[in-house]
Amino acid sequence: MQEIKASDGVKGNIFLRLFHAPASSLRENLAIELLSVQNHWMNFPPDFIRNLAAAKSVAVLTGAGVSAESGVPTFRDAQSGLWAKYNPEDLATPDAFRRDPRLVWEWYAWRRQLVAKAKPNPAHLALAEMEKLFPQFRLITQNVDGLHQSAGSRNVIELHGNITRTKCFNEGTVVSSWKETGEVPPKCPNCGGLLRPDVVWFEEPMPEAEMELAARATATCDIFFSIGTSTVVFPAAALPSEAKRSGATVVEINPQPTPFTAQADFVFTGTAGIVLPKLLAQIKSSRP
Ligand code: OAD
Repeated sequence: MQEIKASDGVKGNIFLRLFHAPASSLRENLAIELLSVQNHWMNFPPDFIRNLAAAKSVAVLTGAGVSAESGVPTFRDAQSGLWAKYNPEDLATPDAFRRDPRLVWEWYAWRRQLVAKAKPNPAHLALAEMEKLFPQFRLITQNVDGLHQSAGSRNVIELHGNITRTKCFNEGTVVSSWKETGEVPPKCPNCGGLLRPDVVWFEEPMPEAEMELAARATATCDIFFSIGTSTVVFPAAALPSEAKRSGATVVEINPQPTPFTAQADFVFTGTAGIVLPKLLAQIKSSRP
């Protein structure tokens, strides 16, 4: 299986990219690898809970699955209604925006209105509670919906930006207000360029400060959780393997297997909204 390190880059920058594998070969690999996964638990092993409760430093990587139970559809699930015929990876690139800025703006406007209505779910709330239980707790998210912060998480590293912010496509500067003239997308009040969401698209460089923080959290944690992410979008997808290489115990929480599953020390098969509150309750009850 292809492996790309978080530190891999092109000309000093790290770019967002998708791990491409033919769906059939990915499924076959996963089927084989899953057979060899020993620690596939529906319940939490007592040793694991004891180690977790005593951990000094915890890092968590979250993906779209964590927001699924808030009604925000994941990226690789079927898109609903109007957007069913589009592939999200074809909409989330600078080329797609250059080709058809209106289409890309409207797709994000649709996601933005879903996000505006969404509330944090029990997974977000449990992670916000967990943050208070450990001396060091870093939450690295690929999600752009801000739901971790709404749930009360403070230490959030946003790897892919935030959909509620808008920036100028030419200048890259964040723009907080503009004149509504009915044009789609609207224009930058400073340079007249097109406005776009402040998220990282495929083929774009990753934000350096956030990557640095995420790499440090990954390399220094005792326990690393990979939750609700398909681990096919790099560089975030490399973080669980990096954590393992650095000696952390790595835990995956996902109702479906992923390309990382076979490497995980523990796999808790279930939705984040069910598994995380149970985990939180067990950590609390195992402490004096
Ligand atoms: P994906 O849509 O690729 O994967 C979602 C994962 O969540 C899958 O592995 C599902 O099995 C799992 N899942 C679904 N429901 C779940 C639930 N209730 N609880 C836990 N897990 C659940 O989303 P990401 O891995 O986040 O980038 O995708 C990574 C990036 O690719 C995104 O940040 C986005 C993208 O296209 C940008 O927008 C820049």
